[in-house]
Amino acid sequence: MERLTNILEKAGVAAGNLTVDEMTYLLSLEDKEDVDMLFSAAYGLKVRYIGKRVSLRGLIEGGNYCSKNCLYCGIRSSNRKLARYQLSVDEVERLAHICCDDGYGSMVLQSGELESEAHTRYIEEILERIRPLNLGITLSLGEQSYEVYKRWRELGAHRYLLRIETTNRDLYSLIHPSNHSFERRLDCLRDLRRLDYQVGTGVMCSLPNQTFDDLAKDIQFFYDMDVDMIGMGPYIEHPDTPLGQEFAGRLMPLEKRLDLALKMIAVTRIQLHNVNIASSTALQAIDEFGREKGLLAGANVLMPNVTDVRFRTGYQLYLGKPGLDENKDEFRNNLEKRIHDIGEELIIGERGDSPHYKGRRDSNAW
Ligand code: 5AD
Ligand code: SF4
Repeated sequence: MERLTNILEKAGVAAGNLTVDEMTYLLSLEDKEDVDMLFSAAYGLKVRYIGKRVSLRGLIEGGNYCSKNCLYCGIRSSNRKLARYQLSVDEVERLAHICCDDGYGSMVLQSGELESEAHTRYIEEILERIRPLNLGITLSLGEQSYEVYKRWRELGAHRYLLRIETTNRDLYSLIHPSNHSFERRLDCLRDLRRLDYQVGTGVMCSLPNQTFDDLAKDIQFFYDMDVDMIGMGPYIEHPDTPLGQEFAGRLMPLEKRLDLALKMIAVTRIQLHNVNIASSTALQAIDEFGREKGLLAGANVLMPNVTDVRFRTGYQLYLGKPGLDENKDEFRNNLEKRIHDIGEELIIGERGDSPHYKGRRDSNAW
């Protein structure tokens, strides 16, 4: 207990204060009282930097075509069981209006990774249409060239999410085909920074063979890369994927994966202090109150899905993704109440920029 108190005290003084060993220790805590102490320290820091406020982004799943073949993902290119779709520019524009009308303040446009002029142009057309709405615009469209990122940045996209998935290169090779490059992903993150995006990254936790030490190093990577936003979640096997099949029945029980994902949120908050951290949908896939638990462990962003229910079955990255039969309005009303129930307030109609990004700009680091 004394070690825990000392570490948490040190962590509160400044961001970046913990060693990888100390973070490994925090991630491996099991005793309920210890874990609760960790969560309340992380929540305290979240309140210090952000307040008792939760930012919203309306998540639009634009399409499930993907040229990549990640071994864990349900929409990988080799999965022939899946009907593929791409929303029209009009449809995305309609959803963006809904985000505005519902007070989300920001939207995230996510889809599989496609590198073609036609796709780049399609995204440009969407950006041209939604720019006048004055919504915060986050893109999550995978690895692209510097030029493409630049074209989208110039049309008003100002945040970009690109998860590194794991910083352990061996584990990266285990979960990706050999032609997927860790180095390229790093280069993309650097390009996004150079283009003055608010940059988000993240990892999956509870991957096969992953250790607490790997995860502590992932958090140190977030700190060293000076990122503004973090999105993480538990790995959940999908039966139509090589990784899902190879490790079937050999992964941690789901409740343990939820606990670890929550500890990852907490330790990330404790080490990085003022970044935006999403409480991901994958948490809710495990526990009905997973997302609220994420908020109480230090996250501050929710990304409700606004894509029409009829398309959502096409976007199953993993098994049991929640909200497939959820009506949007019902969800929105419930959400308000659920957030109040945990003593937090929804931020309505604001972009909810990362305080870390603002801090970087104000300190003239650029
Ligand atoms: N389980 C959990 N997360 C997954 N993702 C993809 N497949 C899975 C899975 N089986 C995550 C990856 C990716 C994001 C879009 O979804 O981290 O970056
Ligand atoms: Fe495509 Fe992303 Fe899934 Fe990989 S994780 S297959 S890049 S959608």
